[in-house]
Amino acid sequence: MAAEAEEIRGIGHSVRRKEDDRFIRGAGNYIDDIHLPGMLHMAILRSPFAHAKLNSVDGSRAQALEGVIAVVTGELMAQHNLAWMPTLSGDTEAVLVTDKVRFQGQEVAAVIATDPYIAKDALELIDVDYEPLGVVISPQQAAAADAPLIRDEKEGQTDNHIYHWESGDKEATDAAFAQADKVVSLDTWYPRSHPAPLETCGCVADINPATGQATIYMTSQAPQLIRTVFALVAGLPEEKIRIVSPDIGGGFGNKVPVYPGYVIATAASLLLGHPVKWIEDRTENLISTGFARDFWMHGEMALKEDGTMTGLRVSLDADEGAFHADAQPSKLKVGLFHVVSGSYDLPAAHVTADGYYTNKAPGGVAYRCSFRVTEASFMIERLVQNAAYEIGMDPAEFRKKNFIEKDQFPYTSATGLTYDSGDYQAAMDLALEKVGYAQLRKEQAEAREQGRLIGIGLASFTEIVGAGPHKDYDILGIKMNDGAELRVHPTGKAHLKISSQTQGQGHETTFAQIVAEELGIQPEDIKVTHGDSDDTPYGLGTYASRSTPTVGAATAMVSRKLADKARKLAAHLLEVSEEDVELAKGRFTVKGAPDKAVTIQDVAFAAYTNFPDGMEAGLEGVAYYDPPNLTYPFGTYAVVVEVDADTGQWKVERVVAVDDCGVRINPMIVEGQIHGGLTEGFGIAAMEQITFDEEGNCIGANFLDYLLPTAWETPKFELGETVTPSPHHPIGAKGVGESATVGSPAAFVNAVIDALWPLGVRNIDMPLTSGKVWEAIQNAQAG
Ligand code: CDP
Repeated sequence: MAAEAEEIRGIGHSVRRKEDDRFIRGAGNYIDDIHLPGMLHMAILRSPFAHAKLNSVDGSRAQALEGVIAVVTGELMAQHNLAWMPTLSGDTEAVLVTDKVRFQGQEVAAVIATDPYIAKDALELIDVDYEPLGVVISPQQAAAADAPLIRDEKEGQTDNHIYHWESGDKEATDAAFAQADKVVSLDTWYPRSHPAPLETCGCVADINPATGQATIYMTSQAPQLIRTVFALVAGLPEEKIRIVSPDIGGGFGNKVPVYPGYVIATAASLLLGHPVKWIEDRTENLISTGFARDFWMHGEMALKEDGTMTGLRVSLDADEGAFHADAQPSKLKVGLFHVVSGSYDLPAAHVTADGYYTNKAPGGVAYRCSFRVTEASFMIERLVQNAAYEIGMDPAEFRKKNFIEKDQFPYTSATGLTYDSGDYQAAMDLALEKVGYAQLRKEQAEAREQGRLIGIGLASFTEIVGAGPHKDYDILGIKMNDGAELRVHPTGKAHLKISSQTQGQGHETTFAQIVAEELGIQPEDIKVTHGDSDDTPYGLGTYASRSTPTVGAATAMVSRKLADKARKLAAHLLEVSEEDVELAKGRFTVKGAPDKAVTIQDVAFAAYTNFPDGMEAGLEGVAYYDPPNLTYPFGTYAVVVEVDADTGQWKVERVVAVDDCGVRINPMIVEGQIHGGLTEGFGIAAMEQITFDEEGNCIGANFLDYLLPTAWETPKFELGETVTPSPHHPIGAKGVGESATVGSPAAFVNAVIDALWPLGVRNIDMPLTSGKVWEAIQNAQAG
């Protein structure tokens, strides 16, 4: 029975991603790959106006086009009580307009046809009578006394204000500022950006007219949550609804909300008795689905003369668009923004936030970030750099002087968050060493003498991921806990079902590696199922880098449950008592007699063929994880740029990124996540911005106007790591997917400002296009 020890490719192994095999062969199964018998196609007519009364919609000419099956209007949806739907923030959102349009690109009508091109053509035959209204395109305009009222249909809504939210201790913060030797402030706007995943949003809704069973294939990062929302909206029993998210071509937060298109296609399938497919085109995706950021922030830091930080005050106005539709934990109106004190031991902090409706598409999605942590991280890291210069300290020294020290963890921040673990000095030291900071500063001084503008930017971010403990975290009242179900088959191969939904992060590989580590079954022998609400445990899905902190923990827990039973089975096979059995890497050995051993495969077979009296057959279980805390990944990024003062162009010379995400399950996947995150961070800092003209026309409606970095512009990345395990996570892992998008924009901007500080430039809002940089230089020089 003794078995050969084979190296188990568990935690710490750079196992190649299992899923890539089908992806690189073009054999992925995305929504648009789904074709069902009798399937019809849907196209959506969108408003050309940002704010306009809808006098009439006449679909008769469209209906007459050959191949058109139906024209769906708001009126028709209203007849079925489906013209409005709840949002994940507890607001309401129009599915199809009945009264007035509230943003450009809003859904006005839909055509169902036998062919997608006929459906699109028919849109042009729908006659709509609009009456344009005054437009609001910023929180400042929204707050004006004479601003047009956007949500006039909401009872009791008399202005465009949505919420006011506060965190921290106002009195203690006021006292800190009253006693400060110096106060430094910064106003900055984190512009509206878009997650712009490779695959746009879409669905195939299939309601079986015979059984009433609804199967909806959908680009969703949270199929279980969406099923519950659909059950609530449609009044259908949950067991009659199956949401399937097949392969997802990137989500980045864009695929968390419920979009009107999903609801219209489902209603159409119900009414017509045919499956209905809806796939957005790129422009629809960019103008009408989940934007991110759009925060107008004011920050102030109180300091002692010696550079000690004593207080932080931040206020912000959030542009939420026409409907408050983002998914934030319901108690936290601006998500986890109160992590804004960052990596610093700030004794007092106070944060206020106000949300406003504007005539823009609903936004605020967690674009590769944990709710609003990106905006917070950007605010503190920009403010810290400006404060360092104003107090006359080197920005690295200033940070190090104020970091939360390693022995202060678990650390309770002034806004009430408990950071689990960290070693900020170590990450900073490694980044400085890798980039050659001291030498770079010398080179920078020499270059300045020659008239060259070199800039060195740092960001020492602290993240907060893995929402979250049931006491404080829910979406629409549903607690943010996640599950994993594991069955080991008689042959010792296994099937893991998880409540997260991968969108390219490699869950089919890494979650198998967690089981491999715990039970000793090789990852390639473990099938991982996700994304099917009928075939996975309940959970709130994948966004905000929560999969590893929550589902990763549930996976370790269920594996340990099975290991406990497996140990009993091994004891039975080895004819010793359970206490004498040890499990390591898939081998159960007898203490003191290591040659006496059975493998997990022997044990699995026995679970179905040779189990002791009184024991249940089988080797399977389920675990739900309620995190005791979130995890706090961190790191230091260093960016070196050279700015051309004549053109405003800036070139990235170096990017050094030191990340600490606790224990790394798959180092190669972690590095891939960091590369992707840095690329997106660079894109946001340098070129991405959705703009609107004064009439509310969305300018960034295609990839010529909304610029994404290509391989041509993207700089080279040099990575480093420190490992500070999370003390409460079963395998010590923290999330990592979004860290680099959260941490890096400030490092890029800080580098450009570092180059331009001697010229008098104090701030440039992202994206730092060459035109804006040039203008800032001109303005600074003009005085
Ligand atoms: O929720 P999401 O998958 O977007 O983010 P994540 O939990 O940070 O995980 C991203 C990918 O990196 C997954 O495949 C994780 O299992 C992997 N990862 C890892 O190997 N080690 C970590 N400490 C964190 C994540």
